[in-house]
Amino acid sequence: MVAAEPIAFGVNGRQVTVRSAGARRLSRVLRDDLGLTGTKVGCDAGDCGACTVLLNGEPVCSCLMAVGQVSGCEITTVEGLAKRSPLLGRLQRSFLSHGAAQCGACTPGMLVAATALLEKNSSPGETEVMDAIGGVLCRCTGYRKIIRAIVQAASGPVADRSSDVSPRVPPDVSPEAGQAVGARLVRLDGQKKVDGTEIFGADETPAGALGVRAIRSPHQRARFLFGDLEQFVAEQPGVMLVLTAKDVPGVDCYGVIPRFADQPVFAHAEARFRGEAVAAVVGETDALESLDLAAFPVRWEELPPLKTMDDALASEAPRIHGHREGNVLVRGRVVCGDVDQAIAESEIVTEGEYETGFVEHAYIEPEAGFARRVGDTIEIQACTQSPYMDRDDVAKILGIAPEKVRIIPTAVGGGFGSKLDLSVQPFIALAAWKLGRPVRMVYSRTESMVSTTKRHPARMRLRAGATREGRLTALDFAADFNTGAYSSWGPTVAFRVPVHASGPYRVPHYRALTRAVHTNTVPAGAFRGFGVPQTAIAQEQLYDDLADKVGMDRLEFRILNSLDNHTPTVTGQVLGEGVGIRACLEALRPGWQVARAETAEFNSATTGPMRRGVGVAGMWYGCGNTSLPNPSTVRIGLQRNGRIALHQGAVDIGQGSNTIVAQICADALGAPIAQFDLVSGDTAITPDCGKTSASRQTLVTGKAAQMAGSQLRSRILQLAGVCGCAALEFLDGIVTVADDGKRKTLALSELPLDANGYVITSEATFDPPTSPLDENGQGIPYAVFGFGAHMAEIEVDVELGTVRVLKVTAAHDVGRAINPTLIEGQIEGGVAQGIVMSLMEEFFPGKGENLHDYLIPSAGDVPPIESILIEDASSIGPFGAKGIGEQAVIPTAPAILNAIHDAVGVRIRKIPATPDRVRAAILVKAGGARG
Ligand code: FES
Ligand code: FES
Repeated sequence: MVAAEPIAFGVNGRQVTVRSAGARRLSRVLRDDLGLTGTKVGCDAGDCGACTVLLNGEPVCSCLMAVGQVSGCEITTVEGLAKRSPLLGRLQRSFLSHGAAQCGACTPGMLVAATALLEKNSSPGETEVMDAIGGVLCRCTGYRKIIRAIVQAASGPVADRSSDVSPRVPPDVSPEAGQAVGARLVRLDGQKKVDGTEIFGADETPAGALGVRAIRSPHQRARFLFGDLEQFVAEQPGVMLVLTAKDVPGVDCYGVIPRFADQPVFAHAEARFRGEAVAAVVGETDALESLDLAAFPVRWEELPPLKTMDDALASEAPRIHGHREGNVLVRGRVVCGDVDQAIAESEIVTEGEYETGFVEHAYIEPEAGFARRVGDTIEIQACTQSPYMDRDDVAKILGIAPEKVRIIPTAVGGGFGSKLDLSVQPFIALAAWKLGRPVRMVYSRTESMVSTTKRHPARMRLRAGATREGRLTALDFAADFNTGAYSSWGPTVAFRVPVHASGPYRVPHYRALTRAVHTNTVPAGAFRGFGVPQTAIAQEQLYDDLADKVGMDRLEFRILNSLDNHTPTVTGQVLGEGVGIRACLEALRPGWQVARAETAEFNSATTGPMRRGVGVAGMWYGCGNTSLPNPSTVRIGLQRNGRIALHQGAVDIGQGSNTIVAQICADALGAPIAQFDLVSGDTAITPDCGKTSASRQTLVTGKAAQMAGSQLRSRILQLAGVCGCAALEFLDGIVTVADDGKRKTLALSELPLDANGYVITSEATFDPPTSPLDENGQGIPYAVFGFGAHMAEIEVDVELGTVRVLKVTAAHDVGRAINPTLIEGQIEGGVAQGIVMSLMEEFFPGKGENLHDYLIPSAGDVPPIESILIEDASSIGPFGAKGIGEQAVIPTAPAILNAIHDAVGVRIRKIPATPDRVRAAILVKAGGARG
């Protein structure tokens, strides 16, 4: 071990001396020794920029700096920015006002990089800002709001709309009672994100905590045999325990959908994918860091893996799970009419095949958390999107009652679906349960990428028919989704896709068949859209081909065929209201016509290699679970001091549910939002609001919050003996009720407290009304759908095959825009993910499992995005609102792929449309033209 030495340097204006080996990473010293956890670690490799700090005023990646190098230097972290100059306080406020911080994991690095720029250039333009933050990655925002926030912070004063760091709602950001819904309210949990005090999964370490390192399979499929584990423990200083499947006291089988649960904490005798855990070493953190994993006593016998869906579906293929015939996890089906006959009789017919690959979520925060045993209870504090599901699975694994497991979600540094599944939780829970000491685990970037779920690769075949007038007559869709070694969300994808594969259009004759297929690859799970983005890539390109064959404008073809309030969907559902797809498409029409004309002009005038194109695509997405219950319960309590405690267990993963749910509740109650105290996710103190996925929190939890707020209002009015239209005023210790010129006062201190410790508790549960689907997939899968349409303007270099997106215009029917700033943030982030899904991102298991090789977009990769909000209200949603999280990503990729076709006349069948694929398609077309 290298000897520690005293190293002195300045941090945020004070001198510190640390005793440390000089080679330790500065990021570690800042976080672990000095408690400055505002500096985040996303990769430990200089790729993500989350750890950016100022070194003598210059931005550096602190994970790449040895602490010995900073002796005598001055370091500024996010915690020190506001002190450094008033301009920086303004920068932080600008981030809040613009909604530039979503999950907040990148925010410290962004703010530090922006500071370095503003100190040198007090009025930078967009390009200079993009250059300055180019080394800091953000997976949530699409960068546009960050860029605007920095430019505006430099160019003028930013209203101080949020200065309170307490968990209470900052009073100076609050609109009046009844005016929260629709307000561009600064996110209520925003201040902590910009001052570095937000607690993410890796940001707390209980005293005396041990660490865990998982031993993972280096092979896609392998049998394994352990050597002498006891001897290994005895010989390794600081190692306390090795956990294997034998140490699981309960049921060693978990999964997000209990009916399909199939994943063990540790593989039993055979590992089914590269990266699967077979054991975990528990011990002192320092000892684990220096542990030579090659010394771990395990012998591998590599077996031939089923690498592809073709391998897995071959008749002689071994079964990955013995009870799943043909390696098919599950099939999905929606059928209406007679598709074969309708296509045979259609005047225009077209068909196509499309393929997409794995996509990595690449959130900036790798999975992390700690567990501790408290008597006969286990407490887990970790990043998660689904605390109640975690609770139930951990209880099953430990063999204890769910009430004996407490899940305390930290802030989540991006999830996009992957943090719905368990990651560190079983390892830390087992170790803490067994040893009675707190145990912490933080995934490395590579460990995160190797072992956590991905977007399902898809292989899709389609045929569609239309009349000569352009009316869709039929769609025949079949798709296989590679769900990897374990089920995760494979059933959800297989069931959701057939409902959505028609797109938001009237298709009278329809057949959509899907399969989720097991292979020996990393499990595929939930990723923003549950298979619908892949499906839209195929179906929206096919509809463009159909429009071309009919000879119709591609946008008008969609408008002609769009669903309305009275036409049945492919499951026979008639929505009756809130079908906003036509409005979204029509909102694009003026820009479409201009862009088409400008593109044609550019292409006819150019003599160089650039060709421009414009593409459009529509989408729909059912909010919440497919034909399954997914209730949320919200509890609010009137406190003696006149404040309202809002207990809601929806996890805010950056999308803004902490703020949106409070806005809804405030207006339902008739109280200013500043009157609320937020009590967010913790299974011990908040009711179950379900998982944060499927664009359900605004709709489902928001509705429950609206109902709870209305109920509390009724109870107060009842107590005061006045009518329902009275205005409430909440003051310290009293509530006044103004009714028809008379005022009544309720003295809260004189009223008894209920079992929850409140003067009045109101609790409401909402479960969207759906019905089961029959054997042909007919029924009501979702109570509410969101709709949208995107237009992409792009430029292709025909010599290089590169594609540059010039602009995306995104129209979304959100029912009611509860908080337009947060909705725009979701749209811009979704568009950014759609752009790279279409053009650059593909994950290959076993290759590039880091952010150096797996490229996600940086600030310069995201073009201007124009958001158009359509409000076609749903009577089911709170104040008419629908979801937006998944919707935003779906139409971008097909719009871009259609634009590529528009520009150069080629269809890219295998996505992403990387330069080599685009160039190859252009060459094939040119060859065909010559031939
Ligand atoms: S943690 Fe330092 S660059 Fe990613
Ligand atoms: S807000 Fe940038 S990574 Fe989440």
